[in-house]
Amino acid sequence: MITKEYIKELKINNIGELYRLMQEQKDNRAVLFLLENLGRLPSNFDGKRFTFLLENKNAQVRFWVVKNIGKLSDTSYLEIISRIATEDQNSTVRREAISTIGRMRTAKAVPLLIEMLNDSDPKIVLQVIRALLVFKSNIIVKEKLENLNNHPNEMIQSVIQKEFFPQKTSSDSSMRHTECLDFMKNVVVQGDVRNILKDVPDESIHLTFTSPPYYNARDYSIYQSYKEYLGFLVSVFKEIYRITKEGRFFVLNTSPVIIPRISRQHSSKRYPIPFDIHPYLVQMGWEFIDDIVWAKPEASVKNRNAGFLQHRKPLAYKPNPLTEYIMVYRKKTDKLLDWNIRRYDWETVKLSKVLGDYETSNVWKIDPTFDRVHSAVFPIELCNRVIKFYSYKEDLIFDPFAGSGTLGKSAMNLGRYFFLTEKEEKYVERIKQELGNKLPFTKEEPHILNIESFQKLAKREKEIR
Ligand SMILES: C[S@@+](CC[C@H](N)C(=O)[O-])C[C@H]1O[C@@H](n2cnc3c(N)ncnc32)[C@H](O)[C@@H]1O
Repeated sequence: MITKEYIKELKINNIGELYRLMQEQKDNRAVLFLLENLGRLPSNFDGKRFTFLLENKNAQVRFWVVKNIGKLSDTSYLEIISRIATEDQNSTVRREAISTIGRMRTAKAVPLLIEMLNDSDPKIVLQVIRALLVFKSNIIVKEKLENLNNHPNEMIQSVIQKEFFPQKTSSDSSMRHTECLDFMKNVVVQGDVRNILKDVPDESIHLTFTSPPYYNARDYSIYQSYKEYLGFLVSVFKEIYRITKEGRFFVLNTSPVIIPRISRQHSSKRYPIPFDIHPYLVQMGWEFIDDIVWAKPEASVKNRNAGFLQHRKPLAYKPNPLTEYIMVYRKKTDKLLDWNIRRYDWETVKLSKVLGDYETSNVWKIDPTFDRVHSAVFPIELCNRVIKFYSYKEDLIFDPFAGSGTLGKSAMNLGRYFFLTEKEEKYVERIKQELGNKLPFTKEEPHILNIESFQKLAKREKEIR
């Protein structure tokens, strides 16, 4: 029987026997086992001994042959691999062939690669771009690649933009990535968030987590129409985009809401807020990262099943919602997350690590919390998770719709600063009770401000900078 150890031994001591084994196998499974376990190839390895397998009907066999030829980085295979790259029926095999051509780093392949930029399969084009980037100082290659900025595929566009048209970003701005402005640290401003945000400087927030008003489903939210409501959210979220630091996160908790029927002659209406707001967010530049489902043990709204339970007639089934969405977005940037992480010093990274058990799935089972003053508060556990997963110690965390200020409390407990805005005086009073005298991390009182006082502080900050 052929084992991994036997293949290893043959590679060192009896390469002829290895070629013979490859030629004699009738069963594709055995061929694949051989090909998959060849590992590093010795310098005297003759790849031509298995090129006959490129005619094999099994795409996986062809893939592994190409992959092994790739390990040789030998331009004498250019012709045969070019044929696979252009003619093979299987996209994965073709991509591997292009990757193999790329590894050869030979200018001889450039004309073929340029031609392949017109392929109709975007995955192929992406692989070709990768191979061509090695030659991007060549004027013709550069021009051909730059032209792909208008390619219909968004992944291709974003690779080309990153390589040839990098965005001007905050890394050029005067504020350090880790910096928080003093006048916003542990501050609660009472007023309409749209007015307050006008005085918040660009790229001053590390993380926003919020649960906006639920259209007209609760008493604190009155809008003329759903369109007006979405327009309101869009205006706030655009501003949040502006004030968020490069590559940082916006975490949005919403769920579909129901507006009850006015009488038995009419039906109730459900509004899918997370799905309706999503396209606007993407359009303003937020990149979709994750959809987390917050699962509660029991429905928090009225039982919708009572009628169906009695009559059991199809079409009238209405499940009780036990979930809400926690949608995670990141401010658009060319930079990888690693860039954001490397802005922090070693000590901060160490102190911010999420140690011990944590939820590995996108279903977070968390009990809801009920509050005597506010009808829809975050459970503190939800805030704790979002803050721990998406921010570092001493970051500035924002909630534009702060309600009872749960996010502020969590930020404080976890060694982060908070910045909260809330329209209603009664809820700001609640925040005062929640946060007053409880700042173990900074030993500072939270500052509760009205818009005018906040504007003055913002103006002073602007003058200093
Ligand atoms: C769903 S609640 C948020 C509850 C909060 N997450 C908590 O843990 O208590 C939404 C809040 O947004 C506030 N709000 C609505 N419109 C606002 C606006 N234009 N500016 C500031 N706050 C607003 C409401 O008063 C309400 O307290």
